[in-house]
Amino acid sequence: MDALTLLHERSSMGKLAEPAPSAEQLSVIYQAALRAPDHKELRPWRFIEFSGEGRERLGELFAEAEFQEDPHADDDTLNSARKKPLRAPMVIAVIAKVTPELDKVPKMEQVISAGCAAHGILLAAHAQGLGAMWRSGKYAFDSVVRKGLSLSENDEVVAFIYVGALGGRHKPVAEHSVADFVERWE
Ligand SMILES: Cc1cc2nc3c(=O)[nH]c(=O)nc-3n(C[C@H](O)[C@H](O)[C@H](O)COP(=O)(O)O)c2cc1C
Repeated sequence: MDALTLLHERSSMGKLAEPAPSAEQLSVIYQAALRAPDHKELRPWRFIEFSGEGRERLGELFAEAEFQEDPHADDDTLNSARKKPLRAPMVIAVIAKVTPELDKVPKMEQVISAGCAAHGILLAAHAQGLGAMWRSGKYAFDSVVRKGLSLSENDEVVAFIYVGALGGRHKPVAEHSVADFVERWE
C-alpha cells in the first residue's frame, strides 16, 4: 500500500479478532509512533500494552472507576466496564507524558505530539492489514484509571487503541469536500 492510499483510506475497525499483533508487527507499529512530530525532542509519550490477562487488569481498573463514581452501581454496570478491554486481543494505552512549564513547548503541544503518535499506531496497524480503533471514553479521564496507570499530574491518557485482526469489513470511507474545510489566502 502506498503512503497516500494509506493516508486517504485508513479507517477504524471496531470488530477485532484474535490474534494480537505479533512482535514484528508491534515493532513496526511503535517505530511509526516514534516518528510523530515532536517539538524539542521531548518524546512526550508512554505506551502501555495490555494483552492476555493484562486486559483483565485494565478492566478491573475500569470497574473500580465505575464503583468510585457510584458505589451503588449494579453488577451489570461493573461487568460491562470490566469487559471493555476484552473487545480486542490487545489494547495500547497512549499516554502523553507531559513536561510542565516549558515555555516553548506548552502542554498542548506535547499532548498533540502524543496524539500524532496514536495516529501513527493506527496507520501502521492498517498498513499491515490489522484492525485498530482509537477509543477514549470516560475512563481515559478518570482519576482511578490515571492512578492505576501511574500517570503524573500533568500527564494525559490520549488513547486506548484497540488492535487485532480484522473481525469484519471496513465501512466505506466517508467522502468529504476539501472546499468545506480549507480557506485560501492568495
Ligand atoms: C481522541 C479520540 C477519542 C475517541 N474516542 C472514541 C470512543 O471512545 N468511542 C468511539 O466509538 N469512538 C471514538 N473515537 C472515534 C473513532 O476512533 C473513529 O475515529 C471514528 O469512529 C471514525 O471512524 P474512522 O476512524 O474510520 O474514520 C475517538 C477518536 C479520537 C480522535
